[in-house]
Parts: sequence; C-alpha cells; structure tokens
Amino acid sequence: MAEMLLEVARLIKSFPARGKARSVQAVADASLTLARGETLGLVGESGCGKSTLSRLILSLIEADQGVVKIAGEDFLQASRERQRVMRRRIQIVFQDALSSLNPRMTVGVNIAEPMRLQGLGTKQSRRDEARQLLELVGLRAADEDRYPHEFSGGQCQRIAIARALILKPEIVIFDEAVSALDVSIRAQILRLILDLQQKFGLSYIFISHDLSVVKRICDRIAVMYLGRIVEIGPSQTVCDRPRHPYTKALLSAIPVADPRQMRVKNLGLIEGDSVTAVVSGGCAFEARCPYRFEPCGRQVPLLIDLEGGQRAACFLNEPDRQQGDPRP
Ligand SMILES: Nc1ncnc2c1ncn2[C@@H]1O[C@H](COP(=O)(O)OP(=O)(O)OP(=O)(O)O)[C@@H](O)[C@H]1O
Ligand SMILES: [Mg+2]
Repeated sequence: MAEMLLEVARLIKSFPARGKARSVQAVADASLTLARGETLGLVGESGCGKSTLSRLILSLIEADQGVVKIAGEDFLQASRERQRVMRRRIQIVFQDALSSLNPRMTVGVNIAEPMRLQGLGTKQSRRDEARQLLELVGLRAADEDRYPHEFSGGQCQRIAIARALILKPEIVIFDEAVSALDVSIRAQILRLILDLQQKFGLSYIFISHDLSVVKRICDRIAVMYLGRIVEIGPSQTVCDRPRHPYTKALLSAIPVADPRQMRVKNLGLIEGDSVTAVVSGGCAFEARCPYRFEPCGRQVPLLIDLEGGQRAACFLNEPDRQQGDPRP
C-alpha cells in the first residue's frame, strides 16, 4: 500500500457569525487521508468549507479540534520551530494568482520569497532556483526581473506554482487554482500541474467546483457538505455509483464559470449562506434530500465503509436497510 503522507482527523473550526449569537461551524468533523503520489479532489458548493479545511491543514488558521499528521508526524501540535520546518512539505496555490503575488517584488523575488522566509540558501542560490523554476513552469529565466502585473492570468498562475515548488514540497493544495482561467489556458495549466506531479512524485489536494475536471485528474474524490465530508472514494466509483444523495445531485448539476454561483439548483436553495443554515440534530442534508426518511432528522449519519474504498455518510447505505427502501 502507498505511504500515507497526510492524515487529517476530525478537524473542527467555528467562526463567530456576523450579527448572530451562534457561531458558524465552517468545518465540522472532517477527516481525510492522502497517499504519496495521489491526487485527491475536494468538491462541494460555495461556502461548504473547502478553503477553511485547506487553511486548517496548512495551519494558516488554528483548528478548534482535530489532528493533522504529515508522514505520521503531528503538525498542529508540533513546536513553532518544528512547524516552520514541516511547513516546507506542504504548499498551496490559490485561485487569484495575481493578488497572491507581491506586486512590488519582481517575479524572481516573489518566487524565491518562501526560501528567504525559511532562511534557506544565499541570495545567489535563491535566484538560481527561481530562474530554474521559471523555466520549469514554461516561462523564461529572464522574466525574473519583470513584475507580476506584466503577466497574464495563466502566466501568473505559473509563477504562483513556481513559488509553491521552491521549497520542494511533497504536498500541494490547489484551491480553485484553474477556475478563473479561460478554457484553453486552464487545459495548459492542468497539463503543467500533472507534468510536475509526474516529475517530482507530488501529492495533490485539488479543490474545484468543476466535477468534470476533478473526475478527469483525481484518483479519489471527497465530497463536502456543510463542513463535513459526506462521501469519499475512488473517482470512477464515486462518479459512476454515488452513495450519497448530495453527490448524486452535484453530479447532475451543470458546472458554472463562477464557483461562487455553484449551487445545486434542483435541490432548492438554502436561504442565505448554506453554512449558516440551521442544522437540526440529524443529517445536515436532510432538508434538501429527496430520499430522506425516518432516522435522518434525529441522528447524524457517520461515514461508513462501502465496497472498494468508497465511504459515505448516509443512512440509506446501512447494512440493515430493508429491500425496497429508497436508494440514492
Ligand atoms: N475568517 C472567517 N470568518 C468568518 N467566517 C468565515 C471565515 N472564513 C470562512 N468563513 C465562513 O466559513 C464558511 C466556509 O467558507 P469557505 O471559504 O471555507 O468555503 P468554500 O467551500 O471554500 O467556498 P468557495 O467555494 O466559495 O470558495 C462560509 O460560511 C464562510 O462564510
Ligand atoms: Mg474557497
């Protein structure tokens, strides 16, 4: 079996809700694993907690509870110094590349910045690395002296990828990293991302609202709903035979260009932000679920193991369900 590079267990994060007494649980008991060399897709509607989950994994924000292990070592409980060193192993690329780069620094300095912050190399060696990376991501070494605003969206994303790679990470999280790009540019950047994975044996978490992309490039898919992973498993299996009604609905939803518009329409909208919807003592999806039945309103379904590495959190999959009961 492939080495488990990343283990995320029972992460919880609440934010104080604006103007409300109750806080919003953006990530509610989320667990996942990532094997070395694997690509895990993370999908779900806007506001379901994908970015918060990735920030928790990177320890950019503090979790209320939960464990993140990198190659078996506890990341969140590590000393500050150890955490700084471990952080080299896991990097992130955001959707808006231009705003994630420092406009006042040249591209070369932007790319080398994580090395400088980590106190690695000399000025010259950092510059050499940055020049090599520029070529690796399909730009010219001479571009090092130009500024981010001189580049197109796709080129800025290449620069952001170069910067994410300078610390030679093992894991890269792509948070909607290709979503804002035109279709042809998106295909080129995806190609680059996949080539780099081959070359360096990288492991990816690929966050996207576009299930068709995720299905194509990911080994496994995790589906998130209101802060929880409701289904996870091999891409092909999850897409061909979804075992959670929400996954089924996502698969039938038409992707839209703007991920912030990503809503599963045929299920009816949840008023306001989906995350702020009041969740009863039962399944978070109950109010929208066409298959809901008796236990759904009073008990939270846990992820249960199904065949072939697929897991889903839905009572319809319980082994003692009667024949003839509704099926997702
Ligand atoms: N710093 C914060 N303070 C308060 N609430 C927050 C904060 N960050 C996120 N949230 C809330 O947490 C929930 C999850 O947000 P998150 O950005 O993780 O969702 P997402 O799945 O990444 O959405 P999108 O697809 O739009 O990027 C949302 O309700 C959001 O408003
Ligand atoms: Mg997000």
